[in-house]
Amino acid sequence: MNHGSSIPILGIGTWQLQGRRAYEAVRHALKVGYRHIDTASMYGNESEVGEAIRASGIPRDDIFVTTKVWNDEQGYDAALRACDASLKRLGFTSVDLYLIHWPVRTKRKETWRAMARVLKEGKARAVGVSNYMVAHLEELAGSAVTPAVNQFELHPWLQPRDVIERCRQMKIVVEAYSPLARGRKMKDKTVAEIAAKHGKTSAQVLIRWGLQREFVEIPKSGDPARIGENADVFDFALTATEMKTLEGLDEQYHVTWDPTREA
Ligand SMILES: NC(=O)c1ccc[n+]([C@@H]2O[C@H](COP(=O)([O-])OP(=O)(O)OC[C@H]3O[C@@H](n4cnc5c(N)ncnc54)[C@H](OP(=O)(O)O)[C@@H]3O)[C@@H](O)[C@H]2O)c1
Repeated sequence: MNHGSSIPILGIGTWQLQGRRAYEAVRHALKVGYRHIDTASMYGNESEVGEAIRASGIPRDDIFVTTKVWNDEQGYDAALRACDASLKRLGFTSVDLYLIHWPVRTKRKETWRAMARVLKEGKARAVGVSNYMVAHLEELAGSAVTPAVNQFELHPWLQPRDVIERCRQMKIVVEAYSPLARGRKMKDKTVAEIAAKHGKTSAQVLIRWGLQREFVEIPKSGDPARIGENADVFDFALTATEMKTLEGLDEQYHVTWDPTREA
């Protein structure tokens, strides 16, 4: 990342995992080799994520943790307080990546100033943004601190090429959320055919597609078998033709929201 530290290219997403389920999923993910956990203040599971990391016995420095400042915590002072509150819930002195969760029109500029301070004070090893489309990124082009990462919805059915390109130009790591399109396209024939050829599942093909595009992938699962399956993606490679075929699936299909509306 442009702030100097590295981000593991595969992590586990934790949205909709709460309480014991969040704890167990993170424990299992760490056991099968994940070293990157994506949480957020809005997910309501930071305490369980921190607890699972401590219980794993794996040194804190070996695990990359991302959390995010939610909309009602934005603004300069509020975001600084939110960061402290997240760290308290996680039980950490710093996170590896702190993101603005959503580009709230009236607050995002002030929040970004707070992110620079969070970085300076060492409460995050890197800071970044999420759901930032080109217009939002342009606002930050002249800032003293450039985001290290932009996390946005990205899978074969939604490939915002302009955002990817602008991130590459600004040396911002592209992180794909909802990389499995929330499971809604698992029966897609094109993907299933490619998966069958490799003896892999459709989910593994979707993740592999993102990895080969050099996107950081954070598939979510609360199921132990699927958590393992989603990480078993480093023993095969999609051909250039298969990559192109998957690229052709783009149909501007959002499973979440369209951030271009937050002008
Ligand atoms: N920054 C943002 O605004 C934002 C927005 C959305 C998401 N995110 C982050 O990105 C992460 C991932 O996105 P997401 O949770 O929206 O969606 P996703 O990872 O694309 O899909 C998750 C869904 O797919 C299912 N699934 C997982 N592995 C599977 C497999 N191998 N085979 C079949 N189904 C499978 C899961 O069910 P089971 O749990 O039952 O396996 C769940 O229903 C989130 O958890 C969160 O950390 C960030």
